[in-house]
Amino acid sequence: MSDVFVDREGELGILAEAWSARPSLVVVYGRRRVGKTRLLKEFMRGVNGVYYLSRLTDHSDNLRGLVAAVGRVVKGFGVGKEYVSIDALLRDVWGSGVELVVIDEFTYWVRVAPRVMSELQLFVDEFLPRTRMMLVLCGSLIGVMERDVLGGGAPLYGRRSFSIKVEPLKPWVLREFLPKYGPVERVATYAVFGGVPHYLRLVDDSVDLVENIERLIVRKGSPLKDEVEFMLREEFRNPSVYGRILRAIASGATTLGKIAEVAGIPRTHAIAYLDNLRRVGMVDRRNPLWGRKGTYVIRDYFMNFHYSVIERVRNLTELEMYEDAMREVRNALPNYLGRAFEEVVRDLLPILRRRGYVIPFTKVGKVLKKGVEVDLALVNEGTGEAQLIEVKWSKLKQQDITRCLRDLERKAEYLGFTKRFKCVKYLIVARESEGDEAVVTPTDLGL
Ligand SMILES: Nc1ncnc2c1ncn2[C@@H]1O[C@H](COP(=O)(O)OP(=O)(O)OP(=O)(O)O)[C@@H](O)[C@H]1O
Ligand SMILES: [Mg+2]
Repeated sequence: MSDVFVDREGELGILAEAWSARPSLVVVYGRRRVGKTRLLKEFMRGVNGVYYLSRLTDHSDNLRGLVAAVGRVVKGFGVGKEYVSIDALLRDVWGSGVELVVIDEFTYWVRVAPRVMSELQLFVDEFLPRTRMMLVLCGSLIGVMERDVLGGGAPLYGRRSFSIKVEPLKPWVLREFLPKYGPVERVATYAVFGGVPHYLRLVDDSVDLVENIERLIVRKGSPLKDEVEFMLREEFRNPSVYGRILRAIASGATTLGKIAEVAGIPRTHAIAYLDNLRRVGMVDRRNPLWGRKGTYVIRDYFMNFHYSVIERVRNLTELEMYEDAMREVRNALPNYLGRAFEEVVRDLLPILRRRGYVIPFTKVGKVLKKGVEVDLALVNEGTGEAQLIEVKWSKLKQQDITRCLRDLERKAEYLGFTKRFKCVKYLIVARESEGDEAVVTPTDLGL
């Protein structure tokens, strides 16, 4: 694909605001490969400044690296000087006329030299307020950024002025990355790779999804083969427990009790692990529309695919039996997409709403009651309206649609929607359809 930069207006807006509000401290964080560095580079096209990418070496090496980065903007900066703290260094940086300093992968620096945090605190407390400088700290270890940089009790607590959590891109930007695919293939690719721009850029849209999976994830030496393990290892001290929990969810355990049981860990521990997984955006908890019993889903599509499909063929791929492995992947894919499509439809709610396919709603959730399941229900207590949505990863004929709608109506009756709400509407979101008003497909949405 070309080198277009998509979306991120909101994030760029916050950066611009922080720039005009100088002095300011900005914390940018988000999942690995989600586009943090690119966002900052785009911002720096308009605003001149110092960019430094921290290294996993030691404190003095990082200080020297930062000096060199400043030297690229201010000729001769720091020549012959040896800094021992980032505080002293940043004071001189301001003194040399630099107004923007971006420190990327800051979590690496914190990891090798935790004291960089207290040195920064000194700078942020005592010196920054007297300047017109914007200082940006960026990192991909969400746990470290939230706990040590933003979190309570950490040195920089309460002193940040802006924080930007960079989220994966939304499904409606896929066209930009995969122009040769059709809407259905785009949605399927999203369900596998998620809205992570780095992954989407690796996808070759002149071959099909399965081939991309083989080339990017399955084969020995492929670029994303060890990505999930790497993320867990980087983010957590005991990655294998987290792996067990994710595996349990992927295998169909969705309630706390069931996840703890399948993963083989005490319930109380499972709560803490699940909270951590939620905090870093790998897992999410879904409250049902009615009742309290929440269920857990793997929120990160790429991880979900990894634990749902790729891990199951691990033995085969390790033996380099790729043909057999890919046959299994091909067989497992429709089932995976069927489940993941429900998540995609959730992500599509803003666009479904904008196009008028769904009602204005105040609450959304799955309904699981008396053995009956509704994929997604929207309700609006104010207007007394409700809408039940059925999600189908298949091609619907007119008779399927009729049957599906009748089912939804029966469920609405049985679950008490028709009694509780003045008006109940129905919608089917399907992969493809042979027409009818009550159905919407990726093609209709212009994905
Ligand atoms: N909004 C975007 N539009 C198009 N391409 C993007 C966008 N954001 C990022 N990319 C591309 O995706 C790739 C990964 O982005 P980037 O390196 O910025 O991610 P990152 O969050 O800094 O990753 P890491 O955690 O590995 O540092 C790059 O090739 C980048 O050009
Ligand atoms: Mg980066």
